Amino acid sequence: MTSYELNVNGTTYPIDAEPSRNLLSVIRDQVGLTGTKEGCDDCECGACMVLLDGQPVNSCSYLAAQAAEREVTTIEGIMTTEELAPIQQNMLDAGGVQCGFCTPGMIMSATALLARTPDPSEEEIKIGLSGNLCRCTGYAKIFDAIKETVVSL
Ligand code: FES
Ligand code: FES
Repeated sequence: MTSYELNVNGTTYPIDAEPSRNLLSVIRDQVGLTGTKEGCDDCECGACMVLLDGQPVNSCSYLAAQAAEREVTTIEGIMTTEELAPIQQNMLDAGGVQCGFCTPGMIMSATALLARTPDPSEEEIKIGLSGNLCRCTGYAKIFDAIKETVVSL
């Protein structure tokens, strides 16, 4: 076991875990935030995407201990008030959420994209979300939600 502190969404959590535990499992099982999803567990689907110091990472393939001393942001952390963040609301309004399993990861990648590219082109949106797979929507409505968020910011 190893002990360290994890800063998730601005709160510091003391963690005791095997050194091999991935960030996804620690976030879900020890921190208790279950919005981040486990899909492939092999760095393929993006369902587990979180931000690490603002950069999107697949938390299934990142050692939790390596995230100590860094800022982890999950889907639960992008709401600044009791209301949904604009990208969350726009995903719902545009019909970009069907089964919803990909949605947290999509939103985290979109959040990182919009932070570095506030007015992305269609091509930049596709590249920004290229690490996230969706089996339900065909992606068009997700892209619409991102474009709508650009307009509303
Ligand atoms: S669960 Fe991490 S990339 Fe699929
Ligand atoms: S909404 Fe079902 S996988 Fe994307």
